[in-house]
Amino acid sequence: MTLMDSTALRRALADRLAEGGFLRTASWRTAVEAVPRHEFLRSGFFEQVEGSAPTAWRPVLPDRADWLERCYADESLVTQIAGTVMPGDILGEILRAPTSSSTLPSLVVRMLEELRVEEASRVLEIGTGTGYSTGLLCHRLGDELVTSVEVDVEVSRRASVALGSCGYFPQLVVGDGLAGHKDGAPYDRLIATCGVLEVPHAWIEQTAPGGVVLATVCGWLYASELARLTVDGDGVAHGGFLGGQISFMLARPQLPPSLGMLPDLESGTEREARLGPDVLDDWDARFVAQLAAPRAQHISLALAGATQHVLVDVEAGAWATLARDGERWAVRQGGPVPLWDMVEDHVLRWRADGSPSLERFEATVTPEAQRVTWPKA
Ligand SMILES: C[S@@+](CC[C@H](N)C(=O)[O-])C[C@H]1O[C@@H](n2cnc3c(N)ncnc32)[C@H](O)[C@@H]1O
Repeated sequence: MTLMDSTALRRALADRLAEGGFLRTASWRTAVEAVPRHEFLRSGFFEQVEGSAPTAWRPVLPDRADWLERCYADESLVTQIAGTVMPGDILGEILRAPTSSSTLPSLVVRMLEELRVEEASRVLEIGTGTGYSTGLLCHRLGDELVTSVEVDVEVSRRASVALGSCGYFPQLVVGDGLAGHKDGAPYDRLIATCGVLEVPHAWIEQTAPGGVVLATVCGWLYASELARLTVDGDGVAHGGFLGGQISFMLARPQLPPSLGMLPDLESGTEREARLGPDVLDDWDARFVAQLAAPRAQHISLALAGATQHVLVDVEAGAWATLARDGERWAVRQGGPVPLWDMVEDHVLRWRADGSPSLERFEATVTPEAQRVTWPKA
């Protein structure tokens, strides 16, 4: 493949993103056509091994015939696994979780459009990753307006090399982006390309009044939504969710803790459940459930030919298990808080209000807390 080919691939990608309604403005189109995504994937990426469960990954290196074309597919390309493993490090397959990636271009571009930058906007990005989205920001705004924080020193180093090779020199910071980057504040825009359990108040403090914070609010039940908040002058940010079932890898300090020893699931108290575990199959209902129990993890246990669903909040020491009892579901709960009561109350209240879609929810972040509400019936 030649340089000409990659120019054509970028143009074709821009056309696809525009047709899909993700790429909406001429200035971002110019950036997509100019920034060579393949330069940010020179260390290769991982592809899923078809049919593997749990998912296995194998490396795709630049010497493979389809590498360049794959760099311009509208796909997330995993670039690091298990916190250290890069594609060049292994020959076979690996069965561990991805920890860094180049996000799918349609999502990158959608988020950049939703960020509503202006010509002189100072932007803080959390989650540099490969540096591709940082490169787009640099192309659009100029290096001096762009700061990007990455928690992983090796990932940041590679992004720095890739950005430099394309002629971009933003400020790159290695650290925990949950704390923002105070030295460069105030920013006009903050964009996070890793998910968060709650929008950190440090991000609000470091964003100028009238500025925008764009971040994906996640939880350990793995429903997530992209929030756009506007910062006021009193340290409060307010806004809503943009829809689209967006998911991101969680900020590393907020990954779920290991489950450890399961509690004695025979203890606690049992009652008939008002909602069965199938409520968690629906994205919106799961998001609502997660608001009630943001630190609960869901596991399924096969027991004597039946499936038992268990929610565990490791930090709180609370748990709930749901098991079939004829036509109904029985719930047994233990620990200091009744997890399933909390989930049921929240989901049933949301349903009583007509199950409003997540785009109609409102989010407020104050120095004390993040609050999410929906319109009442
Ligand atoms: C989906 S990738 C970023 C994609 C990137 N914007 C791109 O276009 O290639 C998420 C990145 O967030 C980083 N990350 C995770 N937790 C972080 C944190 N607390 N602070 C800064 N970066 C973090 C991960 O190491 C990973 O590289």
